Amino acid sequence: MLTENYLQDYLKEVLPLCEGTLGDIQKDSYKKNVPIIHNDVVRLLSVLLSIKKPKNILEIGAAIGFSSALMSNFIEDGGKITTIDRFDVMIEQFKENIKKMKLENKVELIEGDACDILPSLNQKFDVIFLDAAKGQYIQMLPHCLRLLEVGGLFIADDVLQDGRIAKKRLDIPRRQRTIHTRMREFLWEISHNDALETSILTIGDGVALCHKVKEI
Ligand SMILES: C[S@@+](CC[C@H](N)C(=O)[O-])C[C@H]1O[C@@H](n2cnc3c(N)ncnc32)[C@H](O)[C@@H]1O
Repeated sequence: MLTENYLQDYLKEVLPLCEGTLGDIQKDSYKKNVPIIHNDVVRLLSVLLSIKKPKNILEIGAAIGFSSALMSNFIEDGGKITTIDRFDVMIEQFKENIKKMKLENKVELIEGDACDILPSLNQKFDVIFLDAAKGQYIQMLPHCLRLLEVGGLFIADDVLQDGRIAKKRLDIPRRQRTIHTRMREFLWEISHNDALETSILTIGDGVALCHKVKEI
C-alpha cells in the first residue's frame, strides 16, 4: 500500500468490502494473504466497469477467481471474461469458486503461461486487466495492446511495487533489480505511446490505467 497509514485506515472504514459469497472469498483471502486485488482496486474496477459496461474482458492472472467474479458483475448480456493462469494450486481453487458462484457461463479459464497463450489469441477485448508476474508486463504489453479494441481500457495492477519503483536501481536489493528495470520500461512505454492516454494511480500497490484512443 502506497498511502500513509492513517489515510489507509480511514479509507478502509469508508470503502465497503464485497457482499455475499464474493465478500466471503475476499475476506478469507485477505486473512490468508492470498494475492487478490486490494479493496481500493476493487472499488476502482467497479467504477470503471460500471461506466464502460464491457462485453469481453481479458484478464491475465486469474488466481482463485476473485477479480474474474467481481468483473463478471459488470459485463453486458452475452459477454464473457477470458482469464489466464498457470499455477495448479490457484487453478483448483479458481474452479471451485467459479462453480460455487455459478459463473461457468460467464468466465472461461485458459490454463498455461500467458506468455505462450497471448500470441495465439486473436479476438478483440474492450477491457484487459493485467495482474500476473510483474517482471513479464513489458513482454505481455505488445499483445495486450494488439488485443485491445480502440476505445478499450487497459488496466495493470501492482505497477509501483510498494513504492520501490521510484528508488534508484542501486538503492534496491540486487534480486529485485531486474523487475524494477522491466517495470520502469513498461511504465515508460505506456506513458509515451501515442495510441494511449495513460494515468498511473497510487491506489493499492499502483494501478496503470490506459485508454486506447487509436490503432497502434
Ligand atoms: C496477483 S495474482 C492475481 C489475482 C487476481 N487477479 C485477483 O485479484 O483475484 C497473480 C496470478 O498470476 C498468475 N501468473 C503470474 N504470471 C503468469 C503467467 N506468465 N501466466 C499465467 N499466469 C501467471 C499467478 O499464478 C497468480 O495466480
